[in-house]
Amino acid sequence: MKPRKHSLFGAFLLFLSFGAAAGDTLTVASPSGKLSVEFFLTRDGQPAYRASSRGRELIHESHLGFTLDKAAALNKGFFVRDSALSSFDNIWEQPWGEQHFIRNHYRQLKVQLQEDGGDRRQLNLVFRVFDDGLAFRYEFPQQPKLQQFAVTDELTEFNLAGDYSAWWTPAQAGNQYEYLYRNTSLSKIPLAHTPLTMKTGDGLYLSLHEAALHDYSTMNIAAGQNGHLKAELVPWSKETDVRAKLHTPAVTPWRSLQVADSAAGLINSYLTLNLNEPNKLGDVSWVKPGKYVGIWWELHLEKGTWHSGPKHGATTANTKKYIDFAAANGFDGVLVEGWNQGWDGEWWNGGGDKFNFTKPYPDYDIDELSRYAADKGVYIIGHHETGAAVNNYERQLEGAYDFLEQHGMKAVKTGYVETGEQLLNGNYHHGQSFVRHQQKVIDTAARHHVMVVAHETVKDTGERRTYPNMISREVARGQEYNAWSEDGGNPPNHTATLPFTRLLSGPMDFTPGIFDLTLPSRPNNRVNTTLAKQLALYVVIYSPVQMAADLPENYAKYPDAFQFIKDVPTDWESTRALDGEIGEYISIARRERGGDDWFVGALTNEKARDLDINLDFLDKDLSYTATLYRDGDKADYRSNPESYAIETRTVKADDHIAAHLAAGGGLAISLVANKSE
Ligand code: NOJ
Ligand code: CA
Repeated sequence: MKPRKHSLFGAFLLFLSFGAAAGDTLTVASPSGKLSVEFFLTRDGQPAYRASSRGRELIHESHLGFTLDKAAALNKGFFVRDSALSSFDNIWEQPWGEQHFIRNHYRQLKVQLQEDGGDRRQLNLVFRVFDDGLAFRYEFPQQPKLQQFAVTDELTEFNLAGDYSAWWTPAQAGNQYEYLYRNTSLSKIPLAHTPLTMKTGDGLYLSLHEAALHDYSTMNIAAGQNGHLKAELVPWSKETDVRAKLHTPAVTPWRSLQVADSAAGLINSYLTLNLNEPNKLGDVSWVKPGKYVGIWWELHLEKGTWHSGPKHGATTANTKKYIDFAAANGFDGVLVEGWNQGWDGEWWNGGGDKFNFTKPYPDYDIDELSRYAADKGVYIIGHHETGAAVNNYERQLEGAYDFLEQHGMKAVKTGYVETGEQLLNGNYHHGQSFVRHQQKVIDTAARHHVMVVAHETVKDTGERRTYPNMISREVARGQEYNAWSEDGGNPPNHTATLPFTRLLSGPMDFTPGIFDLTLPSRPNNRVNTTLAKQLALYVVIYSPVQMAADLPENYAKYPDAFQFIKDVPTDWESTRALDGEIGEYISIARRERGGDDWFVGALTNEKARDLDINLDFLDKDLSYTATLYRDGDKADYRSNPESYAIETRTVKADDHIAAHLAAGGGLAISLVANKSE
């Protein structure tokens, strides 16, 4: 392992401050000048902006502001009290992540607005322009005539210059994110989640998202004609128009647009993380990436049950089997679902109040298992399925996390399955109250040194930078759909789409690694990939915690392929998305944290294709032993999914690997640096 030196430097330079009259335009350009934003007031004093990329307008005149509950709208009659341009450049360190050191380099324009009549209320806008994207947010300064207030509509517009091709999932008030991606023009979108990914006619790739979502409602995107988009905040509940309840001083999340020259360029950007605040938890050495196995896939395959009875999965004996398997194969954690009281009724259908997070089922001896796991050097991962009964969970939160800590459970997987439109407390799942709930969970977990992997929670907006124990989320269709969905499971293009959409927001607990792809116990379902593609997912889908989801007996059938899952790290020094097109294919290379070894994952949609993998990311001074886990010559995700071949060769940075990916196939490569040279 070669130490690599990084100078950590930071600078925040204020270089201009001036006032401006209505009609004036204030401009801020990115460090290289590639992107720029202009702020101005319209004739009736409404804040507005436009943005350009390399001199071409990318966002046409777009208006800003709010309507408020029982108060005049905050959207016109403003003048510019003051404004300031500044610039910022530093390199910061991620305690864990896909990239150890990240540069945060931007220019900022802060505009202080005030109404020129009435209550003379103040509103600030802060724009940050990076070379890889732009962002802005509103600030509501503390002031006598704006204290406690409620937003009924955020009027933020993103009037893009064209009706671009877009990849999106539908957002309906209250529901979740577990959909397949659609690819249509922007104008065909009714209401979409973010990140919303787009491709312009002239080769730019864009992703509209938000960053640092705290104590505010989630932003969805409504589309009009010609690329005219508008923010649509999720309401607090069905019964009210209120979308965010605020108290000054307050800020909104950042509204952000990544801009890249290639699809892979979107992945090589850390805009969302850069827009979040630095770590607030101090020493997070207890947050440790790792791999896990668990009592999970067998439940989805209906070989066992979450609920009590003769097929109960979470028994002491079965858990010991997984602990033994984890210890023998170098896994860190064992997830156990269905361990606690509450699974016996219709928990998914309004029965979530029955969940108890400190009472195990009688056939699950938690004290014995905690001891057994600790002796073998692994830990049990707790599971808190709430059935969307957020209040029930909150009432037990402190005790639940204390219980985890007392039993050496360093991580917990949470879940918020709901069948209705709302949480059990009547509020919407993606509204401000849930965002507050998620924060309570993160804070409580942090006090007890527990890492959180959240399913069915709100989307990621980069919170992991500020709260590094918020390690991973589901928040998209994961592997589970392959076990039971009635639409044929995830099609091969799903995992070729996720890297350019959902994964731009943050890590995903997709749970890869299914080797028994035809699912003999589920004749109507199967996994629509080859086995090699399951291996590729460990590199393509970033998560600091990765599951080896299949049953131990299925890994026993393919020990040589299983070796890749044992070898692949989950914490990285650096990441380079090499190539790809949205929904078609991707190749990505990552270097292990603190080491010289590289890992490559490449995968394709339903089309077989040949990829040329340029190894120029490797250290020029080293040679590497490359082990390729590739599709077999006759592999095909429909007819021959479990066919693979493993090859070893010595390579250097000036080599290329020519790879053939089968239909629905993939390739995983480990590149181990040869130390003797
Ligand atoms: C849905 C989650 O995504 C899945 O992983 C879990 O097993 C079930 N809910 C039960 O909690
Ligand atoms: Ca789920």
